[in-house]
Amino acid sequence: MLQETLRNNITTIHGEIGLQWLQNLPQNLARLSKQWGLTELNPVENMTFNYVTKAVQGKRAVILKFSLDPDSLYQEMSALKYFAGHGAAKVIAYQDGALLLELVEPGNSLKGMNYDNRTKLQICCELTKRLHQVELPIENSFPSFHAGLSLLDHEWSLPPHFLAYARNLRDDLLSNPHNEKLVLLHGDFHHDNILLSGTNAWCVIDPKGVVGFPINECWSFVMDVKEDTQYIAQFFDYDVLFVRQWYFVHVILAACWNLENDLPADLFLNLAAKIHKLIQDFK
Ligand SMILES: Nc1ncnc2c1ncn2[C@@H]1O[C@H](COP(=O)(O)OP(=O)(O)O)[C@@H](O)[C@H]1O
Ligand SMILES: [Mg+2]
Repeated sequence: MLQETLRNNITTIHGEIGLQWLQNLPQNLARLSKQWGLTELNPVENMTFNYVTKAVQGKRAVILKFSLDPDSLYQEMSALKYFAGHGAAKVIAYQDGALLLELVEPGNSLKGMNYDNRTKLQICCELTKRLHQVELPIENSFPSFHAGLSLLDHEWSLPPHFLAYARNLRDDLLSNPHNEKLVLLHGDFHHDNILLSGTNAWCVIDPKGVVGFPINECWSFVMDVKEDTQYIAQFFDYDVLFVRQWYFVHVILAACWNLENDLPADLFLNLAAKIHKLIQDFK
């Protein structure tokens, strides 16, 4: 049974091509099941933009993910391979828009865990540290997170002083990186993409794979602006002002992403006001 959310998202975004992709799914599933020896297919319940199903391959439990966008799935697969051994789901195979992974078990997402926010932030920071230990070769084909910051240069309907401040901070921070070195970022590091592996280890799935500074990974875990930015600064040995300045750039960027997708930006603007005040008070 195909879930309504997936069907709606795919047809709304991709129209006729999306419909075609949905129609071809059963035969593609059958073809790959045969090729990769998969049985006991059991679709996950929270599909949004991709078709994801549990399955069995020989004796091991696996996950099969189909995407209508093979390039982004290929990038996801490449990032998972980079992160191998550092807290990422294991890649078994990839072929034309289909990715086969080892099932992370028990696989509860960090979102659903009954922990307080501070514990979730701590898990996030520890996992980030592990992922970013992977040495990034100079030659790599991942897109640059920093290039994406040029979105701030468009004319957005946002308070002009916030937009101008975010642009200035971005330029300053990029030209004065405080010993930050470029790493491969997960790039979509949120509670749903972090799964419990075994009794107390955590494992990422669904990375975007972008190259940037490590500071730009943890923002989804900031709930209490003042306390959590302080915690991040302490954990990674950053200046708290440096953390808050980057966080300001991030929330304005997130506001732009929302406006780009015709979504309201108020939430991010409220956050921006809070961070702005903390930065001013600090000086
Ligand atoms: N390797 C895995 N092990 C266990 N569960 C997984 C794995 N990969 C995906 N899932 C489950 O499938 C869901 C959707 O997969 P995900 O790769 O995050 O898709 P999307 O890119 O559409 O968000 C996840 O939230 C998780 O519940
Ligand atoms: Mg996901």
